Order: sequence, then structure tokens, then C-alpha cells
Amino acid sequence: MAAPLLQTVLLLLPCLHAVTAGLRITKVEVPRYLIVGKQATLRCHLALEGDVLYSLKWWKDGKQFYQYIPQNDPPNVVFTVPGITINPKHAELNEVELVDVQTSSTGQYKCEVVAEGPTFNTDTMTANMTILDTPDEPPRISGLEGTYREGETITLNCTSSRSRPPATLTWSINGRQVGPEHLVTYPVHSEGSPQLHTTTLGLTLTTRPSLFASGALDLRCSATLHDYVWRSDATVTLENVTYSQPHHLPTLSKTNSSGGVELCLSLLLLTMLLLTLTSAAAFDPRVT
Ligand SMILES: *[C@@H]1O[C@H](CO)[C@@H](O)[C@H](O)[C@H]1NC(C)=O
Ligand SMILES: *[C@@H]1O[C@H](CO)[C@@H](O)[C@H](O)[C@H]1NC(C)=O
Ligand SMILES: *[C@@H]1O[C@H](CO)[C@@H](O)[C@H](O)[C@H]1NC(C)=O
Repeated sequence: MAAPLLQTVLLLLPCLHAVTAGLRITKVEVPRYLIVGKQATLRCHLALEGDVLYSLKWWKDGKQFYQYIPQNDPPNVVFTVPGITINPKHAELNEVELVDVQTSSTGQYKCEVVAEGPTFNTDTMTANMTILDTPDEPPRISGLEGTYREGETITLNCTSSRSRPPATLTWSINGRQVGPEHLVTYPVHSEGSPQLHTTTLGLTLTTRPSLFASGALDLRCSATLHDYVWRSDATVTLENVTYSQPHHLPTLSKTNSSGGVELCLSLLLLTMLLLTLTSAAAFDPRVT
């Protein structure tokens, strides 16, 4: 009977070891995405597990920017690293605050802890942070004309200015995202240092009554950064013209003689009036 018991104890040994493995990092909290100019609180959570902490250090892309050694006076020291500005009033053991983050703050952040002797246990954990330089304005729709007739082509541009990374643009017609057959792509325009990107996406659409089935044609351009972490929209609504006496208008099928007049009236009937042009910005609360 002793053999199975011994086996059980041997099987449990690795588990016991894991539970009492000494100092370790349980969690690192670093914002995944942030907008330029915001502050970021970096947290490194520890479990001492019987050890005494000797030091905690933060690194960005292999460069150390912070150290906390409880025995030292003062315990915290800040090192100069590009893209890192630490709030000196908010630099503790478990928590350090970066202020005014920039695109250069994008990178891999690593927390490292070391225990005092005799164990000298060490642990590290990393997390990535990406800083978004969002456009200052919602996307802009250009190329609108006052009126459009049936069969006429609506050619518009949507432009999202100066962001990093470049914004992804999409067009929707009456709430449905349109496919490539309606889109005209243009090269991304980049300028400045750090580089900011301006993107333009064209829309071409031939007018037909069914587009106005609900009384108006809604066109929407959405600019997004990193899969909807940030989003901003511009919309245009083209409304039809409502006639007071539509029954007085001749129809093409009834007569052939006055085709010219009928065509004119038909074109008039389908002349669409631009009524509203609105822009709206929507920001995802996750990144504010
Ligand atoms: C973090 O960024 C580094 C360097 O860009 C990359 O190699 C790594 O896969 C990223 N890790 C995660 C979890 O995204
Ligand atoms: C759309 O933008 C492109 C690139 O800037 C330009 O060449 C084109 O003329 C614009 N079209 C309209 C309708 O504004
Ligand atoms: C315009 O839209 C309204 C609904 O808003 C509809 O009642 C009317 O018949 C439409 N007129 C034309 C000419 O399509």
C-alpha cells in the first residue's frame, strides 16, 4: 500500500513546488491602445510567496526607464528613454504613470522583479502598448453637387486627414457597407516627422429610384483606427423632391408623340435635392 501513496506524493510534488515557487509576477497592466497626449498607468502585480523583494524594474523595448528598490532612499529612480515621461508624483512600487504619451511611446513594456538572497528568484512579464495619433477632425466628404438626375453618377471623396496609423475608410449606402465595385482607392499621402497619413476613398454610384425607396439616400463614410478602437463618421443625406400633384404628370408608356416633354418631366421628377450635409464624430469610450 505504500507504493501508491508514494506515487501520489511524487505526483503532487511539482504542484507543491509551483505553489511555493517564490516571487512572481501575477499580472502586468498596460493600456493596449491610447491616444497621443493621454496618460498611461502601468501596473505590475506581484506575489511574494515567502520571498523578500529586492528590485522591480520597467523596460521599454529593451531600455530600462524605471527602478524601485525598497531598501534605497529614495527607492525609485527614473532613467531617460525616448517616448517615456514619468509623473514623479505617481511612481510607486506597483504603479508608475506615464504622462503625455507620444507615438514614440509605442512599444513592448516589460516588468522585471528580483528577490533578495538566498533565492534571487526572478520573473518578467511583457505587454504591448500602441499609441494612436487620431485625426483632429472627422472625415470630410467632398465632390457633392446640388442636384442629381436619374442615371447620373454621384462621385464623392471621403478624406481622413493626418493620423498614425493611416485611417481605414469605408462607405455605406443606406446603412449597408458597399463593395469594391463602388469604390475608388487612392494612394495614402504621408508627411511630417513622425509621419502622419492622409487617406482618401472615392465612391461612385449611379442614381436610381430604388436608392430613394425610403425617401432619402443616406451615404456614410467611416474612418477607423485599429479595428474600431477609434472611429469617426461623416454622413450625407440626399432627399428626393416631393411633388404636390404627381398624378398630372404623363407617363412614358401612354403616349409616344411628346417624348421630349415627357423626358424633361421625368428628369424633373427624379431631380434630387441635396438637403443636408452633416458630420458626426464618435469616439470609442475605451480609449478616452
Ligand atoms: C508585442 O510586440 C512585439 C514587437 O512588435 C511583437 O513581437 C509581439 O508579438 C507583440 N506581442 C503581443 C502579445 O502582441
Ligand atoms: C478625389 O481625390 C482624388 C485624389 O486626391 C482626386 O484626384 C479626385 O479628383 C477627387 N475627386 C473628387 C470627386 O473630389
Ligand atoms: C419622396 O419621398 C417621400 C417620402 O419621404 C414619398 O412619399 C414620395 O413619394 C417621394 N417622391 C418621389 C418623387 O419619389
